[in-house]
Amino acid sequence: MSTASTDDAAFIRSLPKAELHMHIEGSLEPELLFALAERNGIALPYDDVEALRSAYEFADLQSFLDLYYQGADVLRTEADFADLMTAYLDRAHADGVRRVEMFFDPQTHTDRGIGFDVFMPGFLQAMDDATERTGISAGLILCFLRHLSPEAAMATFDEAEAGGYLERIIGVGLDSAEVGNPPEPFAEVFDRAAEAGLYRVAHAGEEGPPEYIWGALDVLDVQRIDHGVRAEEDPELVARLVVDKVPLTMCPLSNLELCVVDDLADHNIGRLLDLGLTVTINSDDPAYFGGYVGENYERTADALDLSRDDLVQLARNSLEASFASDDEKATWLAELDAVDAG
Ligand code: HPA
Ligand code: ZN
Repeated sequence: MSTASTDDAAFIRSLPKAELHMHIEGSLEPELLFALAERNGIALPYDDVEALRSAYEFADLQSFLDLYYQGADVLRTEADFADLMTAYLDRAHADGVRRVEMFFDPQTHTDRGIGFDVFMPGFLQAMDDATERTGISAGLILCFLRHLSPEAAMATFDEAEAGGYLERIIGVGLDSAEVGNPPEPFAEVFDRAAEAGLYRVAHAGEEGPPEYIWGALDVLDVQRIDHGVRAEEDPELVARLVVDKVPLTMCPLSNLELCVVDDLADHNIGRLLDLGLTVTINSDDPAYFGGYVGENYERTADALDLSRDDLVQLARNSLEASFASDDEKATWLAELDAVDAG
């Protein structure tokens, strides 16, 4: 039994949790976007914050990506990237997030002349400051844009390595337009990431077919699948995900806003949870999809009538599926057990 009561909202926020699927560029709120445009002398094709926000009506992933890449253009200086990061980490902390493993899209910046030496120091300084201020633990996952070539992905990896930044990231991922851009061509750059001791994840089965999830698992050798909504279409794949305990980082409000599902009540996360999959709840691009991780838990709980036990299990899954150290995980899991015990 669950309703979106104040009690439930407070309970959800009290659960120590990890956010494992969040694109930092997707946390750029319209207010900050306007402030950065002004600071950098950039003219926007919107009169005000409200006009921009009302443009956030998406029919599919591509219609979102068009606005998301356009929005990222206001990020120009080290301070811009630091301000973006600080705003997100403080917001996540307020939702009970102990650990965040967030995506960034270097090619969105390098392709317009903003280099690793601009965005990485901004991100890293803000992450260190937030950890000191609130205790939140944070890691970066470098995503390759799959609508660009595998050669461009390799060049991006080379650039990160040459700048000494591989030591400052925890893994690599694959995002952007999925359909027509299967995972296999990115095998070589994912192999290099593995050789460098990095974790691997990939978006798969958001709009693309179950075959892309198989490809991410068998060819890219990923430790987690981002989204994975369409896994349910293939019972053999579901069995594989259960047996190998492959976490799915699901994003219910994103799926709703991008019309991957018509109604939150139709979302399969509850069914997959009941089947024993390690599913987790995340916000994806919170500034664009109407909610941070807490709202994603709340609205999903409400739509699917999730129990408190379900919510605790979802938080537990997120902590267990994270790439944090065993010590950190043990600390947060003990805190979660304490909340669960009431
Ligand atoms: N899917 C693919 N690429 C993305 C997304 C997403 O939901 N958000 C930002 N880049
Ligand atoms: Zn995503």
